[in-house]
Amino acid sequence: MTCPVNNQYTPQNCAGAIGIVSGSGLNLDALVDQVDRVMPFSAFDGMASGALPGHLRTFTFGRVGSASVVLQSGRYHFYEGLGYRAITRPVDLLYEWGIRTIVHTNVAGGLEPDLDTGAIVAVNRLLTWPFTGWTERPDTIAPDLVLDGADATGTYVWVHGPSYETPAEVRLLQRWGGAVVGMSTAPEVQRCRQLGIRTAVISCVTNSCCRPQPLTHDDVIAEAGKSSGKLVNLLRRALESGSLR
Ligand code: HPA
Repeated sequence: MTCPVNNQYTPQNCAGAIGIVSGSGLNLDALVDQVDRVMPFSAFDGMASGALPGHLRTFTFGRVGSASVVLQSGRYHFYEGLGYRAITRPVDLLYEWGIRTIVHTNVAGGLEPDLDTGAIVAVNRLLTWPFTGWTERPDTIAPDLVLDGADATGTYVWVHGPSYETPAEVRLLQRWGGAVVGMSTAPEVQRCRQLGIRTAVISCVTNSCCRPQPLTHDDVIAEAGKSSGKLVNLLRRALESGSLR
């Protein structure tokens, strides 16, 4: 695969590649066996500027085994003050490059008592907390694919953030049926549905919401770094099994 370069832009080059999106502090570089090129988000039209710790905001074009991949390291969030179109612009780019399957990874708090730090959850449903800034917000979204090899399967609850949940909010989200809670991914999955892109969602638990404790973005990033190797192994098996083709 040759990669799209701004001034020699050829979307067909990535046709059939699998998109992999990494969340806060997750480093999936070890997944890519052959790196053809790394480009910053800023090289592409319409991408919001700004930095966020734990988000490199680069695209890596390359291969995992025999599969072509585009690894999107980092993403955008509503809590950064961005709107739906800006948050989902990377999905539109991947679509323009010919990508029709995206695995969205993220970090999340564990709502179920047995989902503690380090657990990996294959998400089979997303619920979204009300937020008027996201017009046409779906209450529920189902990813198309649920990957094998995770520690558990369950529901991801999207919240606006950036503050973490109070114990009372945690109890509410648990009653709602959430297995994990996080501040990302749901807008991008909705955009994928609008464009006809197949999706899978994987959450890495960086903290247990059942053990309330002071939590910062830096804590989350530190735990995410420790989970990255386990996530790389799961994604490699999924790519090699052909289930994402
Ligand atoms: N809540 C919301 N988002 C998160 C959490 C959490 O506990 N952990 C990591 N992302």
